[in-house]
Amino acid sequence: MRASGDTPIPRHVAVIMDGNGRWARAKLLPRQAGHRAGVKTAKIIIKACVQHGVGVLTLFAFSSENWQRPKTEVGNLIELFVHSLENEIAELHKNNVLVRFIGERAAFANRLQIAMQQAEKLTESNQGMVLNIAVSYGGRWDIIQAVRKVSALVVSGDIQPDEINEDRISQSLSLSGLPDPDLFIRTGGEQRISNFLLWNLAYTELYFTNTLWPDFNTECLKSAIDWYAVRQRRFGRTSEQLSQEN
Ligand code: FPP
Repeated sequence: MRASGDTPIPRHVAVIMDGNGRWARAKLLPRQAGHRAGVKTAKIIIKACVQHGVGVLTLFAFSSENWQRPKTEVGNLIELFVHSLENEIAELHKNNVLVRFIGERAAFANRLQIAMQQAEKLTESNQGMVLNIAVSYGGRWDIIQAVRKVSALVVSGDIQPDEINEDRISQSLSLSGLPDPDLFIRTGGEQRISNFLLWNLAYTELYFTNTLWPDFNTECLKSAIDWYAVRQRRFGRTSEQLSQEN
């Protein structure tokens, strides 16, 4: 996909929003202040992605491993998610954004589960950008739940084991029906995937920045998209093959 100025725009951007805690600590603020600032950044980046013409944005809001954080931080984060969702859903809907949640949502309190369901219901017919918010999500969990679905088809006799292929697994994953991410962004200086979309990131361009998430702004997003624009995506082929095709 190309936007004005002929810059290739990633169809799908996946983001690990890291660094809220360190941002707060550097300012002698409680961690929760960092998370609140993180929500503000998320709003700005969602809007900017819509403006750039990104088709799908997937944000890692809460990992399966985040449950191990101190109880008060987990509780505060969940409160913040509920409030943010209640405050922002009308605006997202107005911007034609289709909102989906991926992860083990049953692990959350009822209030958040209901807010998630209502957000999905309200925006389900929207035709603009798809916004996936990963909550209590883990890439390994996703693969396991996909394998369970496929195994059930084998047990019921609907398919034979040798009919298990990439398509069948992809179709059983949380992001089924969506293109794999073209661009992955991780803020906060760490260079790892941390059990995010393990299957889907197989050929994704990986962009790491030291900028802490609350400081990540539209300029930073533009830098990531410009970096993506000059990557040569070979999908296992040689650069000579690619130049012959172009
Ligand atoms: C990383 O910072 C962020 C999180 C664990 C999740 C919370 C994310 C937000 C509040 C941003 C917006 C969310 C939504 C609802 C779209 P960290 O605490 O790991 O930072 P640290 O590595 O500096 O401690």
